[in-house]
Amino acid sequence: MGGETGKPEGPDFQAGVPFESIPEGGMLAGRVGEDAVLLVRRGDRVFAVGATCTHYGGPLAEGILAGETVRCPWHHAAFDLATGGPVRPPARDPIPCWTVERRSGRVFVIGRAPVPSRPPAAGPHPESIVVVGGGAAGTAAVETLRAEGYGGPLTLLSADPDPPYDRPNLSKDYLAGNAPEDWIPLRGRDFYDERKVGLRLGVRVTALDREAKRVRMADGTALAYGALLLATGADPIRVPIPGADRTHVRTLRSLADSRALVAAAATAKRAVVIGASFIGLETAASLRARGLAVDVVAPESTPLERVMGREVGAFVRKVHEEHGVSFHLGRKPGEIGTSDVTLDDGTSLPADLVVMGVGVRPATALAESAGLSVDRGILVDERLATGDPAVFAAGDVARYPDSRSGRRVRIEHWVVAQRQGQTAARNMLGDREEFDAVPFFWSAHYDVTISYVGHAEEWDAVEIDGSLDARDAAVRYRMNGRTLAVATVGRDRGSLRAELEIEGGRTVAG
Ligand SMILES: Cc1cc2nc3c(=O)[nH]c(=O)nc-3n(C[C@H](O)[C@H](O)[C@H](O)COP(=O)(O)OP(=O)(O)OC[C@H]3O[C@@H](n4cnc5c(N)ncnc54)[C@H](O)[C@@H]3O)c2cc1C
Ligand code: FES
Repeated sequence: MGGETGKPEGPDFQAGVPFESIPEGGMLAGRVGEDAVLLVRRGDRVFAVGATCTHYGGPLAEGILAGETVRCPWHHAAFDLATGGPVRPPARDPIPCWTVERRSGRVFVIGRAPVPSRPPAAGPHPESIVVVGGGAAGTAAVETLRAEGYGGPLTLLSADPDPPYDRPNLSKDYLAGNAPEDWIPLRGRDFYDERKVGLRLGVRVTALDREAKRVRMADGTALAYGALLLATGADPIRVPIPGADRTHVRTLRSLADSRALVAAAATAKRAVVIGASFIGLETAASLRARGLAVDVVAPESTPLERVMGREVGAFVRKVHEEHGVSFHLGRKPGEIGTSDVTLDDGTSLPADLVVMGVGVRPATALAESAGLSVDRGILVDERLATGDPAVFAAGDVARYPDSRSGRRVRIEHWVVAQRQGQTAARNMLGDREEFDAVPFFWSAHYDVTISYVGHAEEWDAVEIDGSLDARDAAVRYRMNGRTLAVATVGRDRGSLRAELEIEGGRTVAG
């Protein structure tokens, strides 16, 4: 999406560059014809890879090298330097690779490297695999199953009538009117057809019979599985107040929800957003971009304080106020009328559109009625398996043991869900991979993007390096002297470094 435009700059690698001009353990940006290319030196070896991330077009030269990969500064995708393969989401497609030659102390790029083919994975494999949920985790799982060589029958069942799409965009560029709808699908139907993935849309699974290893759909049909992945995500919560079921009161989870908001925003003049969550606030920003007056109502005194602390919360509030959003904090909505929202102190806010952004509930009903262990999420082990060895769970719906905190956690991030889908897929094929990825998410408000790595439910110290107001800061959340998480504004490389350091269990410095 988007992507870099214009002619690439820097040396022409076909004409050759001195080997010594490529910093050891570093990158040199240049070009091959019209392509922006990076030369990467690892000891004596030199790799030549595309310089543009295949997710949203992030500049890989501004990322970091980690092992045999280059990581993107924008949303932390990683690509294999030798093959260009997208080893970490949110990227789904490889970057190109070129063949290099060293002659007389110079490095020349001599042509595109062939795309490596992968041998089919060794068995034994489940006789068939069914994935329930066509979101981040479910789609990453089916892509991984095929990429890993699984050749058996594979079905993706999704209650959503739309083909799998880029959910994070629904509250950001798409809702703000900066992204056309053709940016939103993750893949075309042909992608699934080519890989023989039975993509069944608008199909809700209503029952799971674990004994018969079968799922039943709302239309009464059933499907047998050898292994099953539950990736049902989460459902938005509606605050149960009078008027909450009025037609102009909306939530935002699906593409249909976002389309409906776009349509409503075309005629609405004033919106009230209930809840100062990330989604609530991103929605507020996008509705402001469409020219609506926006009031945000939330019970807390500082938005996002529970997740990001007072300092970042106050900064986000200020950014929104600078763009004309009015906050009504420490307040709850009492009633929603046809043209206003009455707060618990009697204040009446005019509103012809109301959006509830008060959080989500994991969609556990299927697992629960099938007798799987559920406690604020489907309980899974380190391998994302449930108590039933044929059933795995991944994404927003799964609660897994976090190796860093020693606690069970349920994370609601796009990249975490994708990575869990990948891990669950490999484990369904017999791997013993433990899920221990450092969580990462981003959130965008106007021209401010916050990146967050790690996971901190509580902390005893917040340390700010730099200045949030100057939009150049790293905020560390620490407990007993250990950094649990780092939020950054305007420091993409710092976010990548923090991720690497938390991965390595090292103290984050600098
Ligand atoms: C508007 C919005 C913006 C967001 N922005 C960000 C962001 O910027 N950064 C970030 O990290 N995260 C963001 N998130 C969170 C992120 O999108 C989620 O964490 C992620 O989508 C979770 O993936 P999942 O696969 O677990 O669930 P989902 O992506 O929700 O997918 C669940 C799927 O299961 C289907 N389903 C549910 N029940 C059934 C059933 N019984 N039968 C069949 N199908 C079923 C649903 O229709 C859906 O297709 C955002 C979320 C929203 C809603
Ligand atoms: S642009 Fe590279 S990860 Fe998003």
